[in-house]
Amino acid sequence: MNQAEQSLAAPPAVIVIFGAAGDLTKRKLIPALLNLSSQKLLPSQIAMVGIDRVEMDSETYRQTLSQEISSFVGEGFDQAFWDAHIGKAYYMPGDFRDAECYKRLKKFLLEVDKEQGTPGSYLFYLATPPSFIGVIASELGKVGLAEERDDCWRRIIVEKPFGRDLDSARGLNMTLHQSFDEHQIYRIDHYLGKETVQNIMAYRFGNGTVEPIWNHRYINNVQITVAESLGIGDRASYYEEAGALRDMVVNHLLAVLSVVAMEPPNSFEADAIRDEQIKVLRAIQPFDSERVLSDTVRGQYGKGVSGNGDSVPAYIDEPGIADDSRTETFVALKLMIDSWRWAGVPFFLRTGKRMPGRYSEVVIQYKHAPNMMFRDALDRRKDISPNQLVLRIQPDEGISMEFNAKVPGTAFNVSRVCMDFDYEDYFDESTTASGYETLIYDCLRGDATLFKRADYIEVCWELVQPILDVWKALPPRGFPNYPAYSWGPEEAGKLLTRDGYRWRHTTQ
Ligand SMILES: NC(=O)c1ccc[n+]([C@@H]2O[C@H](COP(=O)([O-])OP(=O)(O)OC[C@H]3O[C@@H](n4cnc5c(N)ncnc54)[C@H](OP(=O)(O)O)[C@@H]3O)[C@@H](O)[C@H]2O)c1
Repeated sequence: MNQAEQSLAAPPAVIVIFGAAGDLTKRKLIPALLNLSSQKLLPSQIAMVGIDRVEMDSETYRQTLSQEISSFVGEGFDQAFWDAHIGKAYYMPGDFRDAECYKRLKKFLLEVDKEQGTPGSYLFYLATPPSFIGVIASELGKVGLAEERDDCWRRIIVEKPFGRDLDSARGLNMTLHQSFDEHQIYRIDHYLGKETVQNIMAYRFGNGTVEPIWNHRYINNVQITVAESLGIGDRASYYEEAGALRDMVVNHLLAVLSVVAMEPPNSFEADAIRDEQIKVLRAIQPFDSERVLSDTVRGQYGKGVSGNGDSVPAYIDEPGIADDSRTETFVALKLMIDSWRWAGVPFFLRTGKRMPGRYSEVVIQYKHAPNMMFRDALDRRKDISPNQLVLRIQPDEGISMEFNAKVPGTAFNVSRVCMDFDYEDYFDESTTASGYETLIYDCLRGDATLFKRADYIEVCWELVQPILDVWKALPPRGFPNYPAYSWGPEEAGKLLTRDGYRWRHTTQ
């Protein structure tokens, strides 16, 4: 590595992955580390130690990774590069509940430090079921692995979901804080690592034309959709415990909302940005029981047929799901933000499984022009669509602006047209990685901007807790209430149409 490359590279460290034989590690973390390494964003003194309960040694672990890696990386996999770097991966078997495991880990890490020249800085990545977060953090603390010194740091990355309600999230924060200081804790939401979510900030705060009209005077409503066409796959037991509200809203959707709605921060410092995100989340009108009934919609998919003609079973007929399950696979919410910027502008959030497509987007619907000159030409004002700005998070990351233009010809007809910016047309493909690259790299460099602080997590749960309570007290009737591959239950449409709005469907 030359000097310029060295200065871009993260500092030397060992990345310790708990859950090293699990799905997240194989599908996302190892490919992300490989991408970072091939982009020269990792230093030469770097190592990875995997821990899991499968009995094997480092050599067998390397072989297992080598057999699977190409299928997770896909096109562009460089075998020679992999072979040259796989020696930096180590493995230690152990049970996360066993205190001895952490004593062994401490010794193991000293050996790795000696072999790889790493300085004793450790990043602990908890790619484990959430129930292990507390025990792993406590045991690391007990053996001194959470202690920082002047010449080395210790950080911990915690995956979502962070708690399953307000009490458990607070409890988890308290447990983590017994071993780690807040500045050492990196609560991940890989949505915040996505290029396009970060690009929302660049778009808003890097362009003089955007912010002046980013408010209630010009914006009519905001829609945030995270739709998945897949069902629950082999995650039945996790999903039955979680449901769409816990799985998606409290994490990804509120994260995206906070980026869309926050005030401009004073600087690009982590806490300046996170302070503004928390401020706007705190300004969301809390749900009381009345508002839960009027402004939230839950749904569960029934059987259905995809666009390709494939039939899929109802949620309750999926393997591992009880016949009488009341778990929601769809949620739509209307949120109001009590601030000068957003007074009177509804934010509609929607997420669901088995929707017609897999896509995540933010739609900013602007108000109509104040004087609709073309009303007479078109009979009814509503025939002219409002301007829409669509921020596409996935797939086809990009931004489009929909506006009205005259249809060529002698008659004065106006029609909606679309101006499109596609990320991949402008930047090379490496900019559209999974999001984990950015997050691991940022954590290694000690940049917590894209991670959630303890107070952020608790504000999100405070908002959602009344919904959980009311939904629990009043079990849903009439589930399943939307066919697979549809846009959710009818009520989700009515949530908007009753106020004169409409969801933007990408098929429109
Ligand atoms: N998978 C994803 O794409 C994804 C995406 C976003 C977030 N996440 C989050 O990431 C975390 C990990 O998810 P995952 O899908 O990778 O889970 P996973 O496949 O179940 O991986 C967890 C690993 O930990 C091992 N393990 C369980 N109990 C253990 C113990 N007592 N001692 C040692 N090892 C133990 C498991 O072994 P066994 O298999 O033998 O149980 C498994 O290899 C979860 O919090 C999840 O919500 C995952």
